[in-house]
Amino acid sequence: MKPSELQHKIKSEHGRWLCNNEFSVKVTGAKHFPQRSMFGRVAEIKVVIRDRTGIEAAHFKMAAMPNCYSALISGDNWVNPLYRRKGIATYLHKFKKTIAEASRAGIMICTTVYFNDPQRALLKKTGWANLADFTSPITHKVLCVYTKVLAPSHQKGPEDEVARLRQEHVHSTLAIYHRFAQVQWALKSIKSVKDPLSLVRSAQALLADAMKDLRSITKGEL
Ligand SMILES: CC(C)(COP(=O)(O)OP(=O)(O)OC[C@H]1O[C@@H](n2cnc3c(N)ncnc32)[C@H](O)[C@@H]1OP(=O)(O)O)[C@@H](O)C(=O)NCCC(=O)NCCS
Repeated sequence: MKPSELQHKIKSEHGRWLCNNEFSVKVTGAKHFPQRSMFGRVAEIKVVIRDRTGIEAAHFKMAAMPNCYSALISGDNWVNPLYRRKGIATYLHKFKKTIAEASRAGIMICTTVYFNDPQRALLKKTGWANLADFTSPITHKVLCVYTKVLAPSHQKGPEDEVARLRQEHVHSTLAIYHRFAQVQWALKSIKSVKDPLSLVRSAQALLADAMKDLRSITKGEL
């Protein structure tokens, strides 16, 4: 997508919020997003929000992860001190989601320094997950990695179902073995009981049940 198209999309989805706050939005950067620029650098876009007097009220950047355009890296999140604590950063999170969805990304990633309480509180509020913390070998500061999954994995569903069916199959098979063991025990005891006929009948009934179970497991193929 072109930055102008992203700008149009933000305006069409969030125009009311922009209008109510008398803000304008401008998206600049790579010709197409997400896309690698020449020289192998990963293209990024910058979103700038200005108030009606032209003062920059907020900005942020988004870049595609090298070799995986399905992941977007969000950074340079900034709100002008004049406008802080008015819910702007919280709302800009919606812009990010619009951009991510328009560029068909399934996850957003960002980092922040551990001591940045406002940013960490903001990330928590907007549903980002703190994936990992590490000490930067460059700055020696503790950095926190956050992610926001936009397209949850549906792979697990069928896998879970297969696991459930497998478990069910194990239980049914065990139940059938148990029934056959009962039949075997019944047949073995025939000689030592007074009424062998009734024992044979109950063994037959047990066998019939076991066969019914087997048929339901094999869906009538037996
Ligand atoms: C972090 C920053 C972007 C937040 O912008 P904002 O528009 O003021 O944030 P919001 O008004 O949407 O606040 C969202 C939540 O963040 C938290 N928060 C924001 N400012 C805070 C502060 N000064 N102290 C504690 N929590 C704060 C709160 O949980 C708040 O929710 P609440 O108002 O319901 O309590 C802004 O403070 C900023 O630009 N900081 C400097 C740049 C920076 O550190 N950027 C991050 C780089 S990783």
